[in-house]
Order: sequence, then structure tokens, then C-alpha cells
Amino acid sequence: MSQNKILIAPSILSADFSRLGEEVCDIDKAGADYIHIDVMDGHFVPNLTFGAPVIKAIRPSSNKIFDVHLMISPVDPLIEDFVDAGADIITAHVEAGAHLHRTLQNIKAQGVKAGVSLNPATPIETIKHVMNIVDLILIMTVNPGFGGQNFIPLFDKIKTARAMIEKQEHHIDLQIDGGINLKTAKQCIAAGANVLVAGTAVFKDGKDKYAQNIRAIRG
Ligand code: DX5
Ligand code: ZN
Repeated sequence: MSQNKILIAPSILSADFSRLGEEVCDIDKAGADYIHIDVMDGHFVPNLTFGAPVIKAIRPSSNKIFDVHLMISPVDPLIEDFVDAGADIITAHVEAGAHLHRTLQNIKAQGVKAGVSLNPATPIETIKHVMNIVDLILIMTVNPGFGGQNFIPLFDKIKTARAMIEKQEHHIDLQIDGGINLKTAKQCIAAGANVLVAGTAVFKDGKDKYAQNIRAIRG
């Protein structure tokens, strides 16, 4: 198993929305590698967050990678808006539509990185035939829609994903999202993850603690 550097992607779902720009700036300074942006449509998941205009508004607050996790369906009509807003990685769910391969091709055609995400119940084998075009695999360890949920232990799935990645010639991030804390972070890294999304565990205890929280999750 190749030992990648562990990257931390704070989820701004747990930030103070009334000061979103400052919060993005603060997690950037605190050592975030990616800024994880959870877009929810109230249809694919039972919650609503924000769309491309909000992402555009916070884009000047950080030069870090904007990692946009789309929990929306359909995906394709909005890809261009998210690219224009400043997304660097756009991740779509396997379950979001009938034409995953086309969606990923459409994302790549816009010149950004393409990620694919799987809900907890979705078998890892569903992404076998898109491995050659993805830049990131996002394994959900909660059912998407809300921050602060309990981690679902899917270590076999993470290990299988890592083995699938190792057979590819290009780099693919293996990202885990949902219920990441100091304990589950360690377990996910041991199973082969190299990018950890964390909302609650980063944004707890006020901005003076963000750097310490990020360092602790990185391990
Ligand atoms: C859930 C989101 C996650 C969430 C993680 O649908 O995709 O990114 O914000 O939050 P925590 O770390 O609190 O589980
Ligand atoms: Zn997410």
C-alpha cells in the first residue's frame, strides 16, 4: 500500500453560516488542505444547504482546493455553474443518476477534477468501470444529509477501494466523509484512506482550536 500524506478537508457544513467567508479563511490558516463544501438539494438528500452563488462568494477567502461534494440530482445541468463558481474538484454520487460515466466525463470536460461518492449501502463494485476517469473516491460513512452523525464502520469497503486504486496508473484520492473523529480517523487511515472530511471534529470549541483540531485528526 502506498503511504500517501494525510489530507484534511474540513466540511463547512459545521461552520457559522453567518460568517462563512471568515470561517473559510480561518480553516485555511488553521491548516486545512481542502475546503469541503457540501451542496444539498432537499431532494437527493433530506436537507438544503447552498449552491454555486455562495461558493463564488467564499472563493476569495481561500486559495486552497475547493472540494465540492454534490448531494444533488440531477447533477449535469449544474456542473458548469459550480466550475464557474471556483470548484477544483466536483464529486457526484453514484446514486444521483442513471449515467454516472457521462456525468464524470462532463465534469472532466470542464477542466476540473472528478470525484465519485458512494452512500453507505452502495457496493464499491459500482465504480469499477469508472476507475480510469476518477480523481477521487468518496466513501460516505454516514447517510448523507447532516453533520454530527455516528460513523458507520465500512472498513472492508475502504480497503477494497484502496486495492482498486493501487491497480490504476494515475493518482486517486480516497476520501472518507461522515463521523470522523480522532478514533475513526486513525481507523480509516489504517484501512487506506488519504483524505479525511471532518465537520464537527474541526469546528468544535471555537476558531482558536481549529488548528489543534486539524492536527489531531491528521494524527
Ligand atoms: C454529510 C456531509 C459531511 C458532513 C460531515 O452529508 O457530506 O461532509 O458535513 O460532518 P461530520 O464530520 O460532523 O460527520
Ligand atoms: Zn461531504
